[in-house]
Amino acid sequence: MEERRVPAHIGIIMDGNGRWAKQRGLSRSEGHKAGAKVFKQICDYAGEIGIKVITFYAFSTENWKRPPEEVSSLMDLFREYMHEAEDRKAENLQKGMRMHFIGHREGIPEDLLNLFDTSEEESKDADKYDVNIAINYGGRLEIVDAVKQLGEKIKSGELDPADITESDISAHLYTAGQSDPDLIIRPSGEYRLSNFLTWQSAYSELWFSDILWPDFTPADLDKAIDDYNKRNRRFGGV
Ligand code: IPE
Ligand code: IPE
Ligand code: MG
Repeated sequence: MEERRVPAHIGIIMDGNGRWAKQRGLSRSEGHKAGAKVFKQICDYAGEIGIKVITFYAFSTENWKRPPEEVSSLMDLFREYMHEAEDRKAENLQKGMRMHFIGHREGIPEDLLNLFDTSEEESKDADKYDVNIAINYGGRLEIVDAVKQLGEKIKSGELDPADITESDISAHLYTAGQSDPDLIIRPSGEYRLSNFLTWQSAYSELWFSDILWPDFTPADLDKAIDDYNKRNRRFGGV
């Protein structure tokens, strides 16, 4: 049998925390707490199996529509994770995790932004794999942000609009310099991308499952990778 290819970049939409909690008579924030545990486990496992980039969708630009108590419990959970990660800094560096927080900064509490910046700075020389955490992320807003930067370059005379290429757009996204996701995983039984990696997912393989995120295990990630290995990626060719 051929050796299995591990996708270089995997994107994961961590969905289903609320339904998982409801099934157990727990609060939605208990569901998010359980989801955060799984996130840490899958993040470590991704490094162990040789994934080069993993992007976790944690909070979308649309998630601000949720009740304020839920939004603030999510921000608290991000804070808790960041402080915990700071305590485990040496261990995470040992694992080779280079952290990136991708998303629109406006709207995120200042203290959280500082924690994100510190974590990126402290892990910038780690070289085993890149871990992107998408918070206040929207694929369309990311493209708007890129267009604004390109507009500034046109205004200053640095760029001629006639010369704009796809690579120029890619280079101004939050994921600049990273490969596009080979595989995007969405648990929870929904069949949509919900504004995740809109530009980057043009040729991603998609994998859906009914599992709710807090129930997701490393074995499920392996199953998704096994299925990915059966796909024939043609990119428009034959
Ligand atoms: C995903 O779980 C977590 C976030 C979007 C922050 P949900 O909270 O969307 O869970 P469901 O979809 O209600 O089950
Ligand atoms: C997508 O899940 C966003 C995250 C997992 C962070 P949602 O639960 O917000 O998506 P919809 O609303 O079902 O499309
Ligand atoms: Mg959901």
